Amino acid sequence: MGGMSPTKGAVEMQENLKAILQNALQEVSKSTDMNQLEVCRVKYLGKKGELTVFLRSMGDLPPEDRPLMGKLVNEAKDRIEGLLSQQKEVILRAQREERLKEEEIDITIPGKRLLRGKKHPLTKTLDEIKRIFMGLGFSVVEGPEVEWAYYNFTALNIPENHPARDVQDTFYITDDIVLRTHTSPDEPRTMEKTKPPIRVIIPGRVYRSDDVDATHSPVFHQVEGLVVDEGITLGDLKGTFDLFVKQLFGEHIETKFRPSHFPFTEPSAEIDATCFVCGGKGCRVCKDTGWIELSGAGMTHPKVLERCGIDPQRYSGFAFGMGLDRLTNMKYGIDDMRLLFENDIRFLRQF
Ligand code: PHE
Repeated sequence: MGGMSPTKGAVEMQENLKAILQNALQEVSKSTDMNQLEVCRVKYLGKKGELTVFLRSMGDLPPEDRPLMGKLVNEAKDRIEGLLSQQKEVILRAQREERLKEEEIDITIPGKRLLRGKKHPLTKTLDEIKRIFMGLGFSVVEGPEVEWAYYNFTALNIPENHPARDVQDTFYITDDIVLRTHTSPDEPRTMEKTKPPIRVIIPGRVYRSDDVDATHSPVFHQVEGLVVDEGITLGDLKGTFDLFVKQLFGEHIETKFRPSHFPFTEPSAEIDATCFVCGGKGCRVCKDTGWIELSGAGMTHPKVLERCGIDPQRYSGFAFGMGLDRLTNMKYGIDDMRLLFENDIRFLRQF
């Protein structure tokens, strides 16, 4: 094109092109969403777009003007396309930021409080009892709640006509099968399986057909203890139980034995402990005696040992069976046994 000046028509077209380009650039840069951007693209670069139509009209130019004009149109097209994609980025980024702002998490808002589970007071007391006895070399065993009448009664030297066998006290499944009325059936079960020395505690649920009130429930819990070895005496029972009670409730608690009767121990006793409420002075809880009954106990009856294949000439043993519910109520100052079974979360949360 050297030296040649453009024709008048070409000059006019250049002016037109400049105007189109300026409008296009301005509209694109003002677009704020993808729709507007697409409208711009169609308006200028689409099949009937202004730049496309302009390109077609170049046929009217004299041939010598066409190369320059072609170049200018292409440059204009490039600039519009460049700005379109640049603006597209701008819009997308703005949309992304908008979304992030909406999804922003306020970490200063107080959290929702999760309810944390707690151990039932019975479980807590039992854990403590297990800890104490395991420290004394006992192991923990368990037995069935649905029990042969044989183990619940016969093996324990409880005669056929004993009132404990009465249907008024015992839930019978069949004539031979009962819901165990105490954890003592696990004594003969243990003695049949294990040769002395034996040192076990046996916690578990027991059943008696009692009506529900503040101190009775048809299902409650006992912890049985059994020791069998050579030379075991009543002194061992007294020493062991006293140590246990002092560990559970404190050194200031005394124990005393009261004569009693169980068919499977001889001699038999009820073990009382200093009332935890009044410290022995006498109050409503201990019925003014200063003492609270904790456990049945005694020296394992020779007939019971013998039935289990343990020679009563060589071995002797002691056993006790205490009410876990009563013990728990003492420990936590609970005055109604029903609270232990209702599982009201407002009650349980306090422990
Ligand atoms: N099993 C007896 C009861 O339930 C308690 C007991 C256990 C007594 C062991 C003596 C020895 O009352």
